[in-house]
Amino acid sequence: MNQLFFTLDICHFSDDGHSLIVLDQTLLPNQEHFIELHTAIEVADAIRHLCVRGAPLIGVAAAMGLVVSLRNKPDAIMGSSASFFNAFLETKNIIGSARPTAVNLSWALNRMERSLKEHQELSPSELLTLLHHESLQIKEEDQATCTAIGNYGKELLRDGMGVLTHCNAGHLATSRYGTALAPIYSATEEGKHLHVYADETRPLLQGARLTAYELSRSGIDTTLICDNMAASLMAQGHIQIVLVGCDRVAANGDTANKIGTLGVAIMAHHYGIPFYVCGPMSSFDPHCPSGKSINIEERHGDEIRSLWYQQPMAPEGVTNYNPAFDITPIELISGFVTELGIINPRTLHDVLSNRTEYYPHP
Ligand code: MRU
Repeated sequence: MNQLFFTLDICHFSDDGHSLIVLDQTLLPNQEHFIELHTAIEVADAIRHLCVRGAPLIGVAAAMGLVVSLRNKPDAIMGSSASFFNAFLETKNIIGSARPTAVNLSWALNRMERSLKEHQELSPSELLTLLHHESLQIKEEDQATCTAIGNYGKELLRDGMGVLTHCNAGHLATSRYGTALAPIYSATEEGKHLHVYADETRPLLQGARLTAYELSRSGIDTTLICDNMAASLMAQGHIQIVLVGCDRVAANGDTANKIGTLGVAIMAHHYGIPFYVCGPMSSFDPHCPSGKSINIEERHGDEIRSLWYQQPMAPEGVTNYNPAFDITPIELISGFVTELGIINPRTLHDVLSNRTEYYPHP
């Protein structure tokens, strides 16, 4: 496997710490172009417009973006600790409202707030340094988490298997390696040959633009398919396992992930194919009782009416419905591949009852 792609650091501070530098994923696969973000509004817009996307990476970028935004507010740093805290809350609210479904966003911001509250005796500039380190810690932990998901998940994969994935839950969606793609990378490193089928993932084509791109750059045997082809491939016996990511897993295991995931899960169930959700514990929301309580982002209709923002491909003004995520009920999920190991859906409740820190309260 070609490791070179994983050296691409898609979210990092500039040398002077005043910018957050992120890969603009809207330009992939045609251009690897980095943009610089300086303010809370710029960070929120980059998340909203999917320059930065994928649940874990949204959390990392939010935490690091918070630091950059505060560093660029001299009034907050030169004033009292109380005014720094107010500036923190204002910045947190702007970035926190960027997208509603991935819980990693509020998880990361709440973790930053906890760190601030635990060190109220520090001066504003010391608090900024503290937040800087906390955000880097979140990023480093994300890398370790993805590595662990890869190591646990690779045990599900046998040489020669056909693996179907939906959307992009890879290196581009995290700080490194990814979640659903991490087991594929780990198994390949061990010498297993896998054949990966990447759903194109309408409407915004994360599968075609991002997953097919990163898998082929890493040297993985990849076939891009349209979303409506997965059933036929399953029927023909080409797919032995489905691995997907997650944006929010409710306390009962219902899982929000990219629109279309539910259909894939139903098809996998029909054909008796194991369906695994891969994600960090920061994507699990113990305060959210079931999928019914998950806020599903609804995006602009132009994303359906135009082909990836370029030209119309449906009549102007046609009524449409464009939910960005759907909920896969727990009964369709074979297991959760996490940094703690592979969690059986029946024991999820016990695992989550010990982990309530940082999650938003309903
Ligand atoms: O709208 P996106 O591109 O942010 O949606 C991403 C997904 O649905 C991913 O599968 C999910 O965030 C998991 S990423 C490891």
